[in-house]
Formats: sequence, C-alpha cells, structure tokens
Amino acid sequence: MQLKLRIFQARILKRDRRTLATHSVRLADRVTLAPAMTNEYYEQGARRAAKVGDLFGKIAPRYDLINDLQSLGLHRWWKRRLIDVAGPKPGARALDLCCGTGDVALALARRGAEAVGLDFSGPMLSIAESRGTRAAGIDGKPAPRFLLGDAQAIPFPDNSFDVVTVSYGLRNLANWTEGLREMFRVARPGGRLLVLDFGKPDNAVWRGFYLAYLRAVVPLFGRFFLGDAQAYAYILESLRQYPAQRGVAEQMRQLGCCEVRIIQLLWGVMSINYAHKP
Ligand SMILES: C[S@@+](CC[C@H](N)C(=O)[O-])C[C@H]1O[C@@H](n2cnc3c(N)ncnc32)[C@H](O)[C@@H]1O
Repeated sequence: MQLKLRIFQARILKRDRRTLATHSVRLADRVTLAPAMTNEYYEQGARRAAKVGDLFGKIAPRYDLINDLQSLGLHRWWKRRLIDVAGPKPGARALDLCCGTGDVALALARRGAEAVGLDFSGPMLSIAESRGTRAAGIDGKPAPRFLLGDAQAIPFPDNSFDVVTVSYGLRNLANWTEGLREMFRVARPGGRLLVLDFGKPDNAVWRGFYLAYLRAVVPLFGRFFLGDAQAYAYILESLRQYPAQRGVAEQMRQLGCCEVRIIQLLWGVMSINYAHKP
C-alpha cells in the first residue's frame, strides 16, 4: 500500500508540473480576501499536491472530530443538503471526489446510489474504508466503493455517472478548473454536478466576522488537536486563492453546463454550486 501510494504521488507531482507549465493562473481564480500570508501547507506550483497530501495525511485521524467542533456540527447539515439537492435515485451511479473519510459517499449509498468515493490520501481513505465496512449491508443498501485516485485525472470513462459531487475538495486541487472539467467529463448527459465548499459572503460585515473566525479561531483547533496551527490556518489561505461560489458558477457556464445555480448556506459562508450536463 505504501509503495503504491508513493508511486501514485510521484505520478501526480509529475503531472502537476506539466499542468502548471501550460496553465498560467488566471487572475479571476485569485480573488483576494486579505493580504498574502504564508502557510506551510499552501504552495502555488508543482508542489501543491504533495503539500496537500502531507496535510491530509497528518490530520486524517482527527479530521472528523475537528470538523464537528469547528462547524458546531453544521457540516453534517450542509452535507445532508448537498445530498438532498443531488437527489440520487436508487441505483443511480454516483461519484464523490476528494471523498476524505467518506461522509458524502456513505450518504449517497444510504440513498440507494451505487456510490464511488475517490481520494488521493491513503490515510483519509483507510478511515472511509473502515466506515464503509461497518455500514455494509445496513438496510440492505450497498456500501460505497473507495478508490485511490486523482480528482484531476479521474480514472473513469466519459459519461459514466448520474451524479458527481465534491465537498470541501475543489479548493484543494492544484488546478480546480481541471477538476471541474473532469467532473463534467465523467457526468453523463443529464447528470448533475455539485460542489460544496467554503464560500465568500457578499455582505461585507458578515464576511468580516467569518474571516476573523477563520483567521483567529480555526487555527486553534489545529494547535490543540495536532500541535500544528498551520494545518487549519490553511483553510483561509486556500480560500483566499479560490474564487468560491461565483467563480465556480462562472466556470460551470463556460464548460457548457445548464441550470447553473448557487445555493447559499448561512448567508454565503458555505455554498453549493449545482449544474446539469446538457
Ligand atoms: C477537506 S477534505 C474533504 C473531505 C470530505 N469530502 C468532506 O467533505 O469531509 C479534502 C480532501 O481532498 C483530498 N484531495 C485533495 N487533492 C486531491 C486530488 N488531487 N485528488 C484526490 N483527492 C484530493 C484530500 O486528500 C482530502 O481528503
């Protein structure tokens, strides 16, 4: 497993170098929220994926606990909303990218979908796999299948899935537009694309409170549970470089998606981008 993971990470690093050589970072992708910071886990360029891999390898054992604490449990409600909007029918084929410890893939499977979760972090995936094993057969619903893989080079043919989701994942990719293009490619015509992530609220006062929370409080969870404040300060730094709900909606339109919608959660603190592949 270790050797397989190393070979896989080396392949991603090589591919990212190529991608970054050919795609300059667009100005619109870098909406600024605050003055530039430095973060040990955020690096523009060819080493982005390796840094993100290190980060999630480190936080995997505490990931679910910290998620509950830092969101006061609200992430569960936001993910439920994502699944409701996705509305998978029993037997639908569903893919959850950057699946982490498996929350969304497990929920898709509980709705009767034939679900696959894909992630490039071995430690995150092994937690998802054990949760999947525990859930297998409950209510006669099939457990999701969990796969090691890169969201920027999805190992499935075109037009494979009725539903493609990503929750708190697109922002972490070295090239998020490539990730979205891949989601579009593997969705079947009529299939749905859904992206849940941190947002950028329109209201300046509300945005100020929210950014202060991300800057001052969230890193404390990293310090307390992992002895590393940078691990959670990463959220704000990655959001700073990510165009969030409005930029993702624009990119969905450029890809040719239809019925593009933004669902604001908690006045834009979180958001769901939703679209159909024509
Ligand atoms: C913040 S976690 C989100 C986990 C889960 N989706 C959730 O909502 O709780 C981000 C996940 O994205 C994964 N990830 C980041 N870049 C990736 C890539 N290029 N390919 C696949 N997974 C990736 C990380 O390993 C991590 O598990």
